[in-house]
Amino acid sequence: MQGDIEIYQARIQELEQANRTLEKKLERVKAELVELESTNEKTQSLLHKAVEEAKEREKQLKLYKYALDSTADAVAIADMSGKQIYQNSTFSKLLDCPTNDDFDKCGGIPAFFVNNADFQKVIQQVTLRACAYEVELKSLTGRQFPALLRSGAVFDADDNAIAMMGVILDISERKQVEQTLRDYAEKLEETLKQLQSTQAQMLQAEKMSSLGQLVAGIAHEINNPVNFIHGNITYINEYTQQLLELIQLYQDEFLNQPQVIADKMEEIDLNFIRQDLPKLFSSMQVGTKRIREIIKSLRLFSRLDEADIKTINIHEGIDSTLMILQNRLKEKPKRIAIEVVKDYGDIPHIECYAGQLNQVFMNILVNAIDTLEEGIRNGQVKAPVITIRTSVINTWGVKITIADNGCGIPEEIKQRIFDPFFTTKPVGKGTGMGMSISYQIITDKHHGKLECFSVLGQGTEFCIQIPIQQIVDLT
Ligand SMILES: Nc1ncnc2c1ncn2[C@@H]1O[C@H](COP(=O)(O)OP(=O)(O)OP(=O)(O)O)[C@@H](O)[C@H]1O
Ligand SMILES: [Mg+2]
Repeated sequence: MQGDIEIYQARIQELEQANRTLEKKLERVKAELVELESTNEKTQSLLHKAVEEAKEREKQLKLYKYALDSTADAVAIADMSGKQIYQNSTFSKLLDCPTNDDFDKCGGIPAFFVNNADFQKVIQQVTLRACAYEVELKSLTGRQFPALLRSGAVFDADDNAIAMMGVILDISERKQVEQTLRDYAEKLEETLKQLQSTQAQMLQAEKMSSLGQLVAGIAHEINNPVNFIHGNITYINEYTQQLLELIQLYQDEFLNQPQVIADKMEEIDLNFIRQDLPKLFSSMQVGTKRIREIIKSLRLFSRLDEADIKTINIHEGIDSTLMILQNRLKEKPKRIAIEVVKDYGDIPHIECYAGQLNQVFMNILVNAIDTLEEGIRNGQVKAPVITIRTSVINTWGVKITIADNGCGIPEEIKQRIFDPFFTTKPVGKGTGMGMSISYQIITDKHHGKLECFSVLGQGTEFCIQIPIQQIVDLT
């Protein structure tokens, strides 16, 4: 019995021990449960946050998509193999390619380029840097249009290119506007040039016309009295000779002259008068002849009476111009004379506006004199010469070359000498109109050609070519 009690007591102790162990375990489990609950709460909250964030991101994505769809640019993203990942609605419309599938089915990116070379260029550059090109694209229905294509690649954290992006702007309208603007600008430039040359022509014409009127007026006024003197010199000469003969006759017939007559004869030195009078008359005749020539030149040069087209001898025009310029050609106190070499060919008379053609000769000759004077001043020119040649060109026309051995014209200046108002001369000396007017007179008015050949440091030659007959009505 005693033994049984001990066994029970021992069992009870074991059970109590087991119970304590269980209780401890229970406590641990409870603690773990509390911990789990707290972890669960945290997880729940994290999950909730993640869901919220995902919602927010979706909202943002929708906004981006909306923004991308509303832009005028067509946007497309493809993976590095060229497979389409995304395209906005502008892309679908612009390239007549409704979906990504259509994009891939038609052959992908190259199918949208008109020129394969453009595609190659874009694809080579795409992973190197963001680029913008003007290219010619075509939609899936075959519509071609110029586009501004900006392309670039998207990179991952390790700097590997993971996608390509293209942004396309249809620039057909811009191109059209640009072209229209270019056309306008060209027209404006043309109009401006015309205005400038018309203005130049008007100014020059006015200048020449008033100068011509003045010259012609003076020439006319001098012409009458000079003709009068010139015409009478012959008679005076004749009468004087007769009077001298009469005196001689008196002397021969009346050998015993009264003293008063003999004194007078000695006083006036009759013998000298007898010898000198003919010389005097001949020098007077030379003088009046020269004045008449000058007047003729002035009249020929101004040719106011010949505003219409006339058939004339060009050599007369050149000679009259040279005569007017004589003062600038002859020797001066600090300058040697400019020699003029004339090599006139056997050329026919030509139809032209004589006064205007003389203006051209004048402009070219004055420029030649200017450059020769400059050359003499700076020691470049020792023997100044102007050479004028005329010859026939087939049966078509005549060629007149006027060359100087002056300073020559640098190439960049030579290209501008026919521009209105272009001058290299100091303010007040040159207006820059001479050559531009001459060019118009020769090319527009006479349907000819005016060219300039020049070697720097050696001289310049102007070559005029004009037809013998003017076929078109020049008025
Ligand atoms: N024979 C020449 N030698 C060197 N330069 C020349 C010659 N002829 C013309 N030029 C150059 O061409 C420019 C234009 O000549 P253009 O006759 O049109 O004007 P300009 O002589 O300067 O002035 P203007 O209107 O008074 O004649 C001159 O300023 C000069 O630089
Ligand atoms: Mg000039």
